[in-house]
Amino acid sequence: MIEARELRKSFGTRTAVDGMSFDIRQGETLGLLGPNGAGKTTTIHMLTGLLRPDSGEIIIDGVADPMRTSVRRRIGLTPQTLAIYEDMTAEENLVFLGRLYGIPKPILRKRVGELLDIAGLADRKRDVAKNFSGGMKRRLNLVASLVHQPDILFLDEPTVGVDPQSRNHLFDCVSNLASTGTTIIYTTHYMEEAERLCDRVAVVDQGTIRAIDTVVELKRKHGGDATILVEVERDSAQRKRVTELLQGIFPDRTIRIEDQHLKLQSANPIRDLAKLADSEMDPKWIELERPQLEDVFLNLTGRRLRDS
Ligand SMILES: Nc1ncnc2c1ncn2[C@@H]1O[C@H](COP(=O)(O)OP(=O)(O)OP(=O)(O)O)[C@@H](O)[C@H]1O
Ligand SMILES: [Mg+2]
Repeated sequence: MIEARELRKSFGTRTAVDGMSFDIRQGETLGLLGPNGAGKTTTIHMLTGLLRPDSGEIIIDGVADPMRTSVRRRIGLTPQTLAIYEDMTAEENLVFLGRLYGIPKPILRKRVGELLDIAGLADRKRDVAKNFSGGMKRRLNLVASLVHQPDILFLDEPTVGVDPQSRNHLFDCVSNLASTGTTIIYTTHYMEEAERLCDRVAVVDQGTIRAIDTVVELKRKHGGDATILVEVERDSAQRKRVTELLQGIFPDRTIRIEDQHLKLQSANPIRDLAKLADSEMDPKWIELERPQLEDVFLNLTGRRLRDS
């Protein structure tokens, strides 16, 4: 549905996007996961026609021009910086946008009511936006991009500065839109959001896509080994005995000792756990840690997403 081919964009000497290519399928939710400055917003601005790429191509439904009016009307953008009028009420914000799109009054009235419900702002619709909490503003910012019922929606870090309750509310909105067939491009630097909402995730760093796949496949291909943890007591005979037992079962493996755990890397945890099940090891000591998206990011970029 959307194809990006070798997109590049620099600002002066700073390269923001350095040759990104990817496809977005109709109805899918694609996440762009990357740290501050990775080039996510620049990419979204190129895809929505707000910025012209220095080079490369964007093809939407077979046509190479996202600036076309017919395409722009199908696109909604929830920008990272709030795009609501603080001096207008919630309702006025939505009605104003609807008029810009030329939506007839009776249809618009009904739609604005629905959007206020989606945003959980129906009882605050006559309050000016500047009196809203950060989360309420974000929710209004989201539904403001839905007034013209776009079938392609770009969400640029929609949950920044939002408390957990509002965040869950936003997640539900996004999931509902996805279930009704909206194609969604969602940027975030929160791994749990990418994991929870996205069909596929592009790991973005320094203007490039390091990998793009489902979270399950990203973990399988780039997450590294699983870790088997065996709980041991500190400074005890039990600890010594269990360490010897474990080394006996896996003679050629390195066993790391950390606090109350023995740790063993495992490329085939099911087989290794089966071996442990057949041993004298008490099953209640044993836990399995699967690779997380954090590990994927670290392996692909050499950096941790949280610290970057
Ligand atoms: N208008 C601009 N002028 C100059 N530099 C810019 C401009 N917009 C972005 N950049 C630079 O391009 C790089 C990518 O920025 P971009 O905003 O696309 O990143 P991002 O992934 O959206 O980051 P964040 O998570 O902080 O929103 C950064 O180094 C940024 O400073
Ligand atoms: Mg950004």
